[in-house]
Amino acid sequence: MISELTKSNLKQTSLKQSLIDAFVECRAKTLLLFQNMDEATFCSQAHPDFSPVGWHLGHIAYTESLWILERTAALPCSFPQYRKLYAADGLPKNQRVKLPSLEETCHFLDTVRDRVICHMEKTDLKQQERLYSFLLQHESQHSETISFVLELIKNQQSKNLKENSWHLSCSSSPLLPNPLNEMIQIPEGEFEMGSNSLDALDNERSRHKVYLDTYSIDRYPVTCKQYRIFMEAEGYKNRQWWSKAGWEWLQAEQATKPLYWEDNPAWYNNPVWGVSWYEAEAYAKFVGKRLPTEAEWEKAASWDEKLQCRRIYPWGNKPPTPKNCNYNNIYSQTTPVNAYPSGQSPYGLYDTLGNVWEWTNSWFAGYEGFQYYPYKGYSQVYFDNKHRVLKGGSWATRPWALRSSFRNWYHPGVRQMFAGFRCAM
Ligand code: AVJ
Ligand code: FE
Repeated sequence: MISELTKSNLKQTSLKQSLIDAFVECRAKTLLLFQNMDEATFCSQAHPDFSPVGWHLGHIAYTESLWILERTAALPCSFPQYRKLYAADGLPKNQRVKLPSLEETCHFLDTVRDRVICHMEKTDLKQQERLYSFLLQHESQHSETISFVLELIKNQQSKNLKENSWHLSCSSSPLLPNPLNEMIQIPEGEFEMGSNSLDALDNERSRHKVYLDTYSIDRYPVTCKQYRIFMEAEGYKNRQWWSKAGWEWLQAEQATKPLYWEDNPAWYNNPVWGVSWYEAEAYAKFVGKRLPTEAEWEKAASWDEKLQCRRIYPWGNKPPTPKNCNYNNIYSQTTPVNAYPSGQSPYGLYDTLGNVWEWTNSWFAGYEGFQYYPYKGYSQVYFDNKHRVLKGGSWATRPWALRSSFRNWYHPGVRQMFAGFRCAM
């Protein structure tokens, strides 16, 4: 017979093992992004709003060290010489370009990780599970930022090449049929929003009931083919589709197409991506629709009307697999919006998780009773009515940050992260 003590030991071991496994898996995916990378790419600031990818890598180790080794294990700072460089509030972004090499940075990561594992071996992890889950998601999110900084660099380097392929592919391929503009009516009623799960971040808590009137929402994210109609109609030149703030953004940015736009029929059934919130807003107005609120998006993606309960994922409560959605850099590009029938939500929405983030009409704000964790600067300082919520994750989102309650946020003018949208009415 297994004694209670052995049982609790076994549970400890499996919690420890599953945390270590996740840490190892997440790190392996992070490091894959750095394969064959040259020094210039490692250190280059592709855009004033974003740090070099090499900085993000060091910051991942710094954050793990700060929260586990210093704050939890009460050990001294492992690499005090890096504190100023890698602390989120240490240096302005444009001074983050003189970095340790990839090799030195990996040494930093490995040393911190060895000490973390050592600490995990001799502590009661049950009390610290939330912190480990936070760190896993912290690395996941920086990993995604690394993905889009790399995409941005690629985009800047191959500008002409991309434009040349327009005519080539346009004349040679037939236009695809367009069955992708269906809307789904979501009946009025209450649903549950947010999450109380241990891995829910501070901004997802607490789960709470929300009543919504009947509304309709697109079954699929807006495709390149649909968005192209807006471009062809000179949507970028026509003031009538743009809000005041949107028009100001457009004048300043001089945008004429989405950041990652490739006008090639091969991409027509894929979601449009690399759009700011303002472009999404203008397109929605152009087609006589609007952007969904975060609540509308979350209900349509996760509520099971029949069982009257929320699902963690649109398809149920089992973690994502490559059969359900396009995530975790499996392809490192978008996929057609109808490619994952098995990823549908109970209401029948496709592609809510993975592929591209989706802009919502909601400002990022805390739910009732919000309590920050582990620090104010993670979510709370962004409750400023200047950031819009994005939902659903992209092709570069790690499984640990992929769920219907997860909330991302950016200024409405940002278009580097892999964001598209769907419309509501
Ligand atoms: C939630 C993706 C906007 O990258 O700025 C990482 C996540 N916060 N380290 C960001 C985050 C602290 C955050 N986003
Ligand atoms: Fe961070």
